[in-house]
Formats: sequence, structure tokens, C-alpha cells
Amino acid sequence: MTDIDVLLTENRKFAPDAAFRRAAHISSRELYDYAAADPVGFWEGMARELAWTTPWTKALEWTPPHAKWFVGGKLNAAYNCVDRHVAGSRRNKAALVWEGEPGDRRTLTYWDLFIEVQKCANMLAALGVKKGDRVVIYLPLVPEAVIAMLGCARIGAIHSVIFGGFSPDSVRDRVNDAEAKIVITADGGYRRGQIVPLKRNVDKALEDCPSVEKVIVVRRRPGAEGDEAFATMQEGRDLWWHRLMARAPSKHEPVPMDAEDVLYILYTSGTTGKPKGIVHTTGGYLTGVTMTTKYVFDLKEDDVFWCTADVGWVTGHSYLVYGPLANGATCVMYEGAPDWPEKDRFWDICERHGVTILYTAPTAIRAFMKWGDQHPQKHDLSRLRLLGSVGEPINPEAWMWYRDVIGGGRCPIVDTWWQTETGAIVISALPGVTETKPGSATFPLPGYSAELVDNSGRIMKTGGGLLAMTRPWPSMLRTIWNDDKRYVQTYFSKWPEHPDYYFAGDGAKRDDDGYFWILGRVDDVLNVAGHRIGTMEVESALVEHPSVAEAAVVGRAHELKGQALAAFVTLREGQHATPALRDELREFVAEKIGAIARPDDILFSADLPKTRSGKIMRRLLRDIAEGRALGDTTTLADPNVVASLKEQYEAQES
Ligand code: WTA
Repeated sequence: MTDIDVLLTENRKFAPDAAFRRAAHISSRELYDYAAADPVGFWEGMARELAWTTPWTKALEWTPPHAKWFVGGKLNAAYNCVDRHVAGSRRNKAALVWEGEPGDRRTLTYWDLFIEVQKCANMLAALGVKKGDRVVIYLPLVPEAVIAMLGCARIGAIHSVIFGGFSPDSVRDRVNDAEAKIVITADGGYRRGQIVPLKRNVDKALEDCPSVEKVIVVRRRPGAEGDEAFATMQEGRDLWWHRLMARAPSKHEPVPMDAEDVLYILYTSGTTGKPKGIVHTTGGYLTGVTMTTKYVFDLKEDDVFWCTADVGWVTGHSYLVYGPLANGATCVMYEGAPDWPEKDRFWDICERHGVTILYTAPTAIRAFMKWGDQHPQKHDLSRLRLLGSVGEPINPEAWMWYRDVIGGGRCPIVDTWWQTETGAIVISALPGVTETKPGSATFPLPGYSAELVDNSGRIMKTGGGLLAMTRPWPSMLRTIWNDDKRYVQTYFSKWPEHPDYYFAGDGAKRDDDGYFWILGRVDDVLNVAGHRIGTMEVESALVEHPSVAEAAVVGRAHELKGQALAAFVTLREGQHATPALRDELREFVAEKIGAIARPDDILFSADLPKTRSGKIMRRLLRDIAEGRALGDTTTLADPNVVASLKEQYEAQES
């Protein structure tokens, strides 16, 4: 028996179009062969595209499970993202094209960024921040977030960005774990027309954070300085960003950092357990994100790149900040919600800024599908030339919709699998090379050794199993902050006979052509009458039904089958929940993937519980389906969703 059963088959295929392939950075499989023959040499070649002040003496030192890359090399991440472009031809090129939710706009050229980052570095240094000190950044998605990250990188301070949607409690735990000296926040940020009171949250969090010496406050709301409602400044502790920046000199020499010096800590809230401070270092991380940005997105000089993620997530770190800026790209940044003031805001932004590459998440794509085609159809999206997806498995129907309605049938889609821990994209198509299949992340990129491994540690060429990395890669996490034991335990203890195998925690399958299909977190895998079923496959079957926008499937204990399937389903706009539709959906799934996967319960719901980064929290749905008290809901984007689901579920049962 395989470790995870394979149920769904998808036969559609899309080859890169001839014109795209001709113009692409990579249009043949040679790079894969070259990298497979000498992975470390391949990464060295990629690292050489960065500017180093001292070359490395050893490319890789691997004492499983601890890796060091580019040992002895020195470089500065901010220098690589800014200074070297200013010295070259990109001095006046737009680096950040920013739009606030209320409609305010700012464009920063590489020169502007150069000046701002140097000032920020001087500002931090003047406050006594030194190499290795931790700085927490808790900001809305405004240019200052990028400036602050690069300002830290310039002086060698370790930044830890906390997503602006987190509560005071979450901020407190992270600040304390990192023992941050400085917190950079704002008086507020805009979300669906409301003001998120970031500074007030910080004040609350800091009641119990002894390490923090200063709080720097960005004035997001012009004219609101002294607005007591949102930013009460505490004498001696709190300082306005704009005042400090006005005084800070605009020249600063970047500090050469060791390749293995920590660049940042990023806490993963994840769908389970206590947050982990994922540690990324400088040289390997920058190599990984620079290479993948250039090749996965086929980034060219005149592209307008929009990664819709917030800097509070790893996607924002790697593909809004470090990857694109290291490549000298023009990046769009949007502060607010996709449905504000109308449901066409994203398409309006794409049209107005001439976005050519769009990188977003399946959760957003499914929301757009649910809202209807009329919103994108109001806009000219003809400048788009490449689409990307990240964060969750993308259901084949959502993939097709993305391709047809957003990409006009002409843009290749790169479905990119990676994690906070991997730092950079690991499995993805190369758009000028790979024939894509809807819902498959396709193949590991050159330089990586992602494999499917069974429970006993054997590599499987086809079938269903666990996703693993069998060799180290430059942008891998180095440890968990303050908890190396947990690092070893979580990621390198799955197969005792292979202490060098990284366990990703995801289930996956490989089809006969070798394509990878991510099946979701292993903790979420169902066991129905002895069959291990990935949630992804049942959910995708449901989403194929024309009435369904989104689905989450969990197992609940069942006397005979081990587990029964409970499906939570969100309908497309204009569709109605009826008992007939419920029966129809059950049969639809049985027909698509087999009777074994026919859901026992179907509950219609206007929304699903999600983490703040948009991942469905199946753990809570399991609590509901099994009639338990709800577990920890603090990482939920909207706690009301589960409460109302629980009521509905219980009402249905009685
Ligand atoms: C999931 C986000 C399927 C997966 C970059 C992984 C995906 C977790 C994909 C990491 C994808 C991410 N297809 N699943 N293309 N991308 N995932 O740390 O379960 O927020 O382990 O990093 O998201 O989430 P994280």
C-alpha cells in the first residue's frame, strides 16, 4: 500500500507558447542537467551574480542537520538590493510603486530608496542599534516597511517583521521571544476603510516586553500627528519616524556581513502549534531568492512585478522585497483589501500600473471566482504576461479560471511550492520550459533535491507520500531562534535512518510523468477505511462543481470507517444551498474520485476559517465536526467564522 492514496487525475496540459519560450531566460532543460550534475557548483554560479565584498572559501559545510553556505564570504543584502542598481543604469528606475488603500500613491526610485535606506540605517545606529540586535517591524504595507527592513540589513541588525493583522498578545510573544530592542510601528494602517490601531496594539503588547528600549512610529495618517486616539507618545520611549529621519544623514557605509550572519527571524504561526522563529541568514538566502525571482518569473528589465503578499509573510520578504529588489525590478505594493472600495480593486491596480507579472494566492483566486468574472472583465489586463500562485494547493478549476479569466488564456502559470522554512521557491515550473498541468507545482527547480519519500524513508518515483528535501539548499532555515532542539525535532527527525532528510510536513504525489502534486499538510490527511486521502483531492473535486467556490474537507471519527468525511462548502455568488445540491455534490465527488471519498456531511457556509495569511484552518473544522470545544483561535483572520459554523453544524445534527 502506498502512503497516501492517489485519487484525482488531471489530464490537461499546457506547453509554453513559442514566442514566450523564445524570449525566456531559460528555454531548455540544460540548466536542470547542469545543476543535477553539480548542485553545489550550480549554486555557486548563482551566488556569483550577487556583489560580495569578500569571496567565500568553501561553498557548503554540511554537518546534518546544520548547513553553512558560502563560508567566509561577506556581503550586504541592502547593498545588493539598492546600491548596486544606483551605481548602474537603474538609478532613476521605479523600485516601489505603492498604493495605499484610500488611494494615496507614492513611487520610490532606486535612488530614493538608496537615500531612505541610508537615513534609516543612520537613524537606527544613532539609537544604539548594533549588528545582531533585533528590531521588530509591525507596520502596514507601506514603503517604510521595506525601508526599515533594508535599513536593518544595512547595519546588520536582525529584523523580525510581524504581520500588521496580529493582536497585541501575538506581538508580545514574538517581541519577547526575539528579545527585540526596537519596535517600528505606525499610528495606523488601512483595511477595508477602517484604521488598524497598530500603535495602540504595540502599547498594549509592550506592557510586558522588558527588552524594548524605543518605539519608532511612522505617521501613516498625514496630519494626524498628536491624534491621541491612535498614537499616544510615551515620553522617553516613543519617537516619530519622520522626525528622526529628517535629522538622519543620508550617507551610510553598508556593514559587510558574513554569509552566515542572521538576516532575519520570521515567526510562522502556521495552522498548528506555538509560533516558531524561523532563522534565515544572509548569503544563502539572498542567492536563493535572487535566482528564483529571475528564473521562475522570467523577470526582465521592464517588467512590473506585483506580489500581493504582505511583508509580514515570507512571500513578502522573498518576493516583494529581497528577490525583486536584488534583481533591480519595479515592484507594485498595495496596502489594503482586494474588495475595497469595490471587488475589482486588484484589476484596477493591474490596469493602472501596467502590471506584467502577478503573484498571488489560491485563497484570493477562489474569492475572485466567487465574486464573478464581471470584475476583472471591466479592466484591460492585456499587459499581464505571467501569473504565479503560492500558499496552498491550487485546485485545478481555480487554476483554469486564473488562466482564462485573468491571464486571457495567454499567460503561463507558475504554481510555486515552498515554505517559510525553505526561504525561496523549491518546486515550480520554469515558464519557458515546463509543460504545466492545472493543480501541479510540476518539478523541483534546478539545484534542489525535493523528493517523495515513504514512511520508511525510501524515495518513491510515483504514487503518494511525504515531501522531503534530501540535500541542503542555500536559502534553507538554519535553526529556530532560541530552540535548536525544536529545529532538529521538527524538520530532521522524521526518518531516523536519514538524519539529513528535511521533512516538509506536506503530503504529495507524483504522477507517471514525474509531476509533483501537493496534497496539503500531513496533519490534515484523512484515513477513510484504511485509505489515506489528501484533503486537496476531495476539495478540488468539489470546486470543480460549477456552484462551488471553495471547500475544506476534514475527517471526523467514525466507528466503522475510522474517519468519515465532513465537507465545508462555500458557494459562488448567486448559488443557493439546498438539500438537493447537497446530494448532488456528494454524488459529484463520488463520480470524480470514487465512492471512498464521498463526503458524509456537507455544510454550506458563507466563509471558511482561515489564518491571517489565508490558509484554511482544518484543525478547527475538525473540532467542529467532532463536536469538541474549539482549540486555539488566536491566529484566525476572523474568529466569528468558526463560531457561526459551529452553531450551524450543531443545529444540523440535532
Ligand atoms: C503550503 C508560504 C501547495 C504548503 C510560501 C507549505 C503550498 C505551506 C504551495 C508553507 C503550493 C505553499 N502548493 N501548497 N504552491 N505553497 N503551500 O510557510 O502546505 O506560509 O508547507 O510559506 O503552504 O506556508 P508558508
